[in-house]
Amino acid sequence: MGIHIKNSDEIAKMRTAGRLAADVLEMIAKHVTAGISTNELDTICHTYITEKQQANPSPLNYHGFPKSICTSVNHQICHGIPSDKKLKKGDIINIDITVDKDQYHGDTSQMFCIGKPSVLASRLVQVSRECLYIGIEMVKPGVQLGDIGHAIEQHALKHHFSVVQEYCGHGIGKNFHEEPQILHYGKPGTGITLEEGMTFTIEPMINAGKRHVRLLSDQWTVVTKDHSLSAQWEHTLLVTADGVDILTLRTDEHSPFNIR
Ligand code: MF3
Ligand code: CO
Ligand code: CO
Repeated sequence: MGIHIKNSDEIAKMRTAGRLAADVLEMIAKHVTAGISTNELDTICHTYITEKQQANPSPLNYHGFPKSICTSVNHQICHGIPSDKKLKKGDIINIDITVDKDQYHGDTSQMFCIGKPSVLASRLVQVSRECLYIGIEMVKPGVQLGDIGHAIEQHALKHHFSVVQEYCGHGIGKNFHEEPQILHYGKPGTGITLEEGMTFTIEPMINAGKRHVRLLSDQWTVVTKDHSLSAQWEHTLLVTADGVDILTLRTDEHSPFNIR
């Protein structure tokens, strides 16, 4: 129990797992187009992870989850189950990849727009990405989790969006989900203080309407109660001596801190 501080051997394995998860997103990007089903995306990722990366897709059979990736479309917030439904122009989709390599996990997700998104969808996708980067920029030893949650929440509210409270980021390592919980809202000066060697995700779920959620009868897919659009971005992070390393950084993100 408690928060597990990673040693250098573990950090090396986390770096590998993180890079593999990022590689899957880079690989799948060109396939995310109108007419493909989320099941087809799942199959491509599953094959890539198991055959090319010689790794395991962490979601598969995790507490009974039936697929290898999560695909959450439009008003789906998270944990969407890939299906035969095809993507169509105007959809927005979160693809969430978690790879287990050598017993350590890397967890990352990003949004894709199919064709030209509506003005609202495109603002939501952009602002949710900024919420992630605002959180990441704050990560260093001595900072409290409440400070980070508060900053993320303020940015979403400033744009008249809301922050999902029922689901959160999480410590990650040998376990897919471990302590601490990383809330994307909060009160400055409260919560756990970050230390060098912690690894965790930040993964804000931002709704265009109200924050409230509903769980579908499949017992996995989380949707917005008011059916408004939702967007999410996620990275796995390492607290370093003086800041943060993004373990799941993609090559399209060379200077993530310059996006605003
Ligand atoms: N990858 C998700 C997260 O960011 C968790 C998915 S759990 C699953 O924490 F079972 F739905 F895959
Ligand atoms: Co996660
Ligand atoms: Co994830």
